[in-house]
This record gives sequence, C-alpha cells and structure tokens, in this order.
Amino acid sequence: MDKIVIRGGKPLSGRIPISGAKNAALTLMPCALLTDEPLTLRNLPRLADIDTFGHLLNNHGVSTTIEGTSPDEFGRVMTIRANRITSTVAPFDIVRKIRASFLVLGPLLARAGEATVWLPGGDAIGGRPIDLHLEALKALGASIDVAAGYIKATAKGGLGGGRYRFPMVSVGATENAVMAAVLARGASCLENAAREPEIIDLCKCLVAMGARIDGVGTDTLRIEGVRDLHGATYTVMPDRIEAGSYACAAAITGGKVELVGAEAADLGATIAALRAAGVEVTATPEGLAVASGDALSGIDLETAPYPGLATDMQAQLMAMLTLAKGSSRVTETIFENRFRHVPELVRMGADITVSGRSVLVNGVAALRGASVVATDLRASMSLVLAGLAASGETTVSRVYHLDRGYERLEEKLSAVGADIERHSDD
Ligand code: UD1
Repeated sequence: MDKIVIRGGKPLSGRIPISGAKNAALTLMPCALLTDEPLTLRNLPRLADIDTFGHLLNNHGVSTTIEGTSPDEFGRVMTIRANRITSTVAPFDIVRKIRASFLVLGPLLARAGEATVWLPGGDAIGGRPIDLHLEALKALGASIDVAAGYIKATAKGGLGGGRYRFPMVSVGATENAVMAAVLARGASCLENAAREPEIIDLCKCLVAMGARIDGVGTDTLRIEGVRDLHGATYTVMPDRIEAGSYACAAAITGGKVELVGAEAADLGATIAALRAAGVEVTATPEGLAVASGDALSGIDLETAPYPGLATDMQAQLMAMLTLAKGSSRVTETIFENRFRHVPELVRMGADITVSGRSVLVNGVAALRGASVVATDLRASMSLVLAGLAASGETTVSRVYHLDRGYERLEEKLSAVGADIERHSDD
C-alpha cells in the first residue's frame, strides 16, 4: 500500500488548478443510463471513484470511452453510451467500493422499469441509511423489496411521478429521485430537496438532455416527466471541496495560492469560515486567491446542508484551527461518526477534545510530524494539511482514500512548494 511522506513547514506559493468535482461527476455519470444516445462529460476528474463508477456502468452493458489522457493534463473527457442496458443488477463487489453506486437505482428504474442494487459501502463516517432514497422512489410509483443485502425496485409500466417531501435533506436521495422523475409519465414535486451546487449541476445536465425541471437551485424541484431524453455534452463543475481543501493548505502553511478554476459562488460558507479565522480570500479573474493573514484565530463552526458549511470541509478546517490562536468549537450535524481524524491530529500535537457531536480545539503553537493513519477521504486530507504545517516528517498511510477524491494530490502540492512524495510499500 502506498504512503504519502511530507516534510512540513514550507509555506505554499503559486497556482493550483482545481479539478472537476468528484461528487458532481458521480451523479452526472448515471444520467447516461437515461438515454440511448451518448452523454459526453468534460472535465471529469481522474480519480479511483470515477473509474469504479465507470466499471459499474460497463457492468450494465454501457460503454465508456475516455479521451484526453495525456499525463500533463488534468481531467479527461468521457463519452458514455447506454444504447442497451444488458443488466439491471448493480453487484456487491462494485457497489461496496463506493456509496455513490446507489445512484444507478433511480435512472435504471426510470429507463428499464427495474433495478437491483446491493447495499452500498463508501466512507466509514456513520450509518448512512438509504431509507430516503427508497421512500422518494416509492412516492414516484416504484415498488421496493428489501432483501438480505440488496434492494429490488420495480415500476411495471414505468414510473408515474408523484410528490415527496424529504423529512431531512439528503444529497444522494434528491439525486436519485430527480433522475427517476425526469422520465416519469406525469409530474413530480420534490420538497425539502438538497440544493448543493452538485444538484444544480445534475439538473443543468438533465435539462441539456431534454428534461423539464423547475426550481433548480431551490429546495422545491418541480419536474415534468418526458418520454425520452437525448444525448448531450456537459462540463463538470469545479470541485468546491478540493478548492476549499487547498485554501486550508495555504492558510495552515502561512502561504499564498491562487486556486485556478475555483468558483467563489459555490464556496460561500467555506470562504466565510476562512475569513473569520483571519485568512484573506479574494476573487481573481481565474478563480480565488487565498493568503494566510497575520495569524489564524479560533472560530466556531457548524456543518449544515448547503448553503451551510459542507460536512466535507469539516476535517480540513479543523486541521487548520489546530494552529489558530485561541479556541474553536466545531460541531458536526450531518454524520455521526465524522471525527476519526481527531486522534491522529492529537498524535501530531493538536489539543482537541471530543464531546458528542462537537469538538473543542485549543490552538497550539506548533504541530510535529508523525506516522498517521487515514480513515476516510476528508480525514485523510486533514492529516495531509497538518503534515504540511508540522515540523519534521509526517507519513500518511492508506493513501487509497486520497486517491478516491484528490486528483494528483502530490503533484499539485509539490508544484506550489510542498515537500511531499508518494512511497510504495512493495
Ligand atoms: C453526499 C456526498 C458526501 C457528503 C454528503 C453530505 C456524494 C457522492 N457524496 O453523500 O461527500 O458528505 O452528501 O453533503 O455526493 N440519510 C438518511 N437516509 C437516507 C439518506 C441519507 O438518514 O436515505 C442521512 C445520512 O445518514 C446523513 C444525512 O442524511 O446523516 C445526509 O446524507 P446525504 O446528503 O444523503 O449524503 P450522501 O448523498 O450519502
């Protein structure tokens, strides 16, 4: 297994290109299941999760053709064509690798009238139930059988459409419901829907494919089902979590970077948190400039559905706050098991105490390098950030978590002055 080795203490300086958004890509790819014409996605990040999702689509008989694989380019172009769906079963050996595999349920059901999906895997950050996905699809007319380890959804004669109010905001359940509703016979209304920028990206792509969706960007989506969708070419939005992570890297190292391609409008709560902590963030013609101010100061943060602070930024901001002056309280409201980076940060000298869904971070003067173990994608990034600022050497193991979500991490960080390398264990 590979390891990342960082010799910290170097302020970052320069330009970091921001890749296409992993979480947008993972909901745009299954849109291809909704039409027999090709869907071409541009700016698709080169990540393990994208490859896994491609394998899942191949397993359904869908072809995936990649262009733009020159090693010095970021991102690539993929054309996905589902002219025939040969299997409506999403098997366990693929689904267990990424939770987003569950996003084939809605489109398969809408297009083929049935889908069998094994229960998902993904990050170990909480129970992560799927009840809202199933309730929303039932409201649109699906019958659901839950068997040992898998879900079978059917809609004989197609989905009729319907109304569903989500009892709590769920990104994935909203995505599944939207992808199912666009091909339903009648109209649908989804209330208390997630309005993350990735949902807007999904709706825009579906509209480009001929879907009829009103209320995009609000929590009420009104969808008029259409008989067929057609092919399209669509560019994946920039990754707001990758951008936010590299903003924290500039801040924690006392550096200054330009995040090329970052979209300020998608990063509102993250930018507000950085500014409150004393980090200078300014829009530039090409993206965002981030410069550490005189000193970081402690702040209180609470994660929330968009437009609130993304839970996917919690670990990285916490790493930054370990070196802030004063104390910070960080509260996680989305996932119940998302503090697994805390013991590792403490091993690097951070002063953090967990109390239920909140942690108290007392800023320390310095972190020291250590061997740390990554437990999930964003937790891994928080350890990389701590390593960039720590004295001495930090080794982050289980790098496969980072490869799921950060395109060419070491390359991007080395280019702005970090001393970071990947070591192979074999
Ligand atoms: C997506 C993102 C993930 C991000 C999360 C929250 C992808 C591939 N992943 O995950 O990076 O951290 O949004 O912004 O886009 N819940 C239920 N029942 C359900 C579904 C969800 O109770 O059927 C709960 C979850 O346990 C969690 C909350 O709802 O407490 C939010 O989860 P959700 O928004 O669904 O996250 P994902 O779509 O899995």
